[in-house]
Amino acid sequence: MSQVIGYEKVGDIAVLSANNPPVNALGAEVRQGLLAGIERAEADGVQAVLIYGEGRTYFAGADIREFGKPPQDPWLPALCDRIEASPLMVVSSLHGTALGGGLEVALSCHYRIATPLTKVGLPEVNLGIIPGAGGTQRLPRVAGVEAALEMITTGRHVQASEALQMGVLDKVQDGDPREIGLAFVRDLLETGAPRRPVCEMAKPTPIDFDATYDAVLKKGRGQLSPAIAVRAVQASCEAHDFAAGQARERELFTELMASDQRKGLIHAFFAERAVSKLPELQGINPRELHQIGVVGGGTMGAGIATSALLAGLTVVLLEMSVDAAKAAKDRIAANLAGAVKRGKLSPDAQEEILENRITLSTDYDGLSGVDLVIEAVFEDMEIKKQVFAKLDATCKSGAVLATNTSYLDLNEIAASTGRPSDVIGLHFFSPAHVMKLLEIVVADHTAPEVIATGFALGKRLGKVSVRAGVCDGFIGNRILNAYRTCADHMVLDGASPFQIDAALTRFGFAMGPFAVSDLAGLDIGWAARKRKRATGLDPRARESFYADKLCEAGHFGQKTGKGYYVYEPGNRSRKPNPEIMPLIEAERAAKGISPREFTDEEIVRRYMIAMVNEAAKVVGEGIARRPLDVDITLLYGYGFPRYWGGPLKWADLQGLSDVVDDIRRWSGEDPYYWQPAPLLEKLATEGRCFDDLNKAS
Ligand code: 3HC
Ligand code: NAI
Repeated sequence: MSQVIGYEKVGDIAVLSANNPPVNALGAEVRQGLLAGIERAEADGVQAVLIYGEGRTYFAGADIREFGKPPQDPWLPALCDRIEASPLMVVSSLHGTALGGGLEVALSCHYRIATPLTKVGLPEVNLGIIPGAGGTQRLPRVAGVEAALEMITTGRHVQASEALQMGVLDKVQDGDPREIGLAFVRDLLETGAPRRPVCEMAKPTPIDFDATYDAVLKKGRGQLSPAIAVRAVQASCEAHDFAAGQARERELFTELMASDQRKGLIHAFFAERAVSKLPELQGINPRELHQIGVVGGGTMGAGIATSALLAGLTVVLLEMSVDAAKAAKDRIAANLAGAVKRGKLSPDAQEEILENRITLSTDYDGLSGVDLVIEAVFEDMEIKKQVFAKLDATCKSGAVLATNTSYLDLNEIAASTGRPSDVIGLHFFSPAHVMKLLEIVVADHTAPEVIATGFALGKRLGKVSVRAGVCDGFIGNRILNAYRTCADHMVLDGASPFQIDAALTRFGFAMGPFAVSDLAGLDIGWAARKRKRATGLDPRARESFYADKLCEAGHFGQKTGKGYYVYEPGNRSRKPNPEIMPLIEAERAAKGISPREFTDEEIVRRYMIAMVNEAAKVVGEGIARRPLDVDITLLYGYGFPRYWGGPLKWADLQGLSDVVDDIRRWSGEDPYYWQPAPLLEKLATEGRCFDDLNKAS
């Protein structure tokens, strides 16, 4: 008897119930249990079989942990074919999420019923593969090519009501999956409904697959699986029969299964789930949060307040003056209006939030009752210390005192209060109500309960939270500074900002570093450079000054219409600013640099290795707990292409000794900048990779 698939005879119906928590993934034992259940039913004199899942869901897909390991019988495609070929009528009753292989099992059944909250989908492309158990052949036969392509190439989860309209489900009914399933099967038997194998349905009508392939490839910014899925669906129309279409699907599936993109995407899937699992928080309860305070309602404060309001919290916002507070509320109202426009909030809820859940204040007494306060005032240590001293004097005992600082020393901020154990960094990314990343910065004296509260808040706000230690820029901005410097060096040596941006967007980044600077505002980098120069830079560090000249002329990027690029009002496209190259050439001449050619490959490799090297320092110093914490930070905060899994997964895929060899070679030209991080060197020497550290943690 299978441990994970129950067998029960209810009159004329054999009931197979899956019990493989948490998500009834279709691992080898589940597949064996289903096969055995079908065979037993066929020998048991019943007329039909009902398959459903116990617990929170029907099958949520193949067991991803088995990917890359030797396959175990029965294969999922063979199991699906076997279910479909059964002489008994086979019906599935769905609830929760029927995804990937789960939906493929359901599609191999002859009928499907689901509860109203069920979601179905074929999200395999998000894992770098395509459906591999007949999904690309059965779904187009059931729902038509266009609907199937949309579902398969986006991986979208489709609500039961829509799936019913598409023909993916035959019935939607509220109730217990077992009970509604049994009633449905009895109905089908009583009305003499025939077995209905999808493989026997007519081939679907073809569309212009070449045009669709090109469009999907372009949209994927280098991600292959959605475009390859188009070719698999094409086979459902063009292969001479169902089996030939399936063979084509298998061929494409196998190719992708061996790809680096599959490895990167699966790494990302598990890393984003592992990132908030911290041994130090085992058994620690977070403090309760009802009311949040925000100090400073500029770009970030307004975004943070919006995020908290959208999550159902109540907010008190403190600003310097009544006018500044009103301006902050206007920013929040505009953010909420955007949420309404995107369908994330109803107009009624928007009104309710603005009327009842936000209080403006110019007086610290207004913050006396909040459970947690997030400071988002100007990035200036003296101002932040003054704010924290006032928070210390007014906030109730047990309130968490958080700062959104991007770079400043959290220990120094905490020391300006009499309760450093309550102080933490909550570093949001702009726009704070949209960006998913939250760096949770832990200072020397931060209490575990306060860290747990930070993670609980992150979860409530729908963020992906990463633990970081204290250093200049924490995980993300510290690494950003290092690879941004590498880009500046390449510009001095002969590459143009436009070539660098183009090479990196081709690699898969959402934007190149110079377009990003224009978006963030060139004044921010300018202020940081001035601050660093004032503290005295190491004389060995190579500096560039041409960007300062842009700023001195009042060009701060998108917000002023000109930066590295020129932006026309009302037009989102950008053109290279013709003033840039003369500024760069003048600086090269003044420094006596003879510019050289860079290939796109070299640009990408140097930029990526600069990122990896700093990331290895960040892990080696314990600023990030594990390599995966860096990977998730870059994926969710810095537009890193998800299909590479993050910079340290990318490095593993390149081979760490090759990475170290490149750094050693480049150190000949700039020994100050290019020195291998000790951790990187150690792993390369030992023949290990970053993922070994993830697995050991
Ligand atoms: N295989 C193995 N483990 C899985 C899994 C899967 N398919 N899906 C989820 N899990 C694990 C998670 O890693 C997590 O483990 P943990 O508790 O140890 O961290 C646990 O199940 C719970 O998952 P979540 O935290 O994600 O729970 P949620 O309730 O937030 O989400 C879900 C549930 C929507 C099902 C989500 O887990 C999900 O999207 N899973 C992946 C679904 C998927 O991609 N299926 C297709 C797989 S590929 C395939 O089927 C190939 C086929 O075509 C041949
Ligand atoms: P901003 O200049 O847009 O807003 C700062 C706000 O703080 C202003 O509205 C100002 O009136 C208010 N303020 C200043 N001193 C105050 C005081 N003593 N009491 C009450 N209010 C006060 O700045 P922004 O961009 O919102 O940045 C705020 C903080 O967030 C900074 O520490 C910054 O480093 C950090 N940050 C900024 C990001 C960004 O992309 N802009 C991203 C992540 C963090």
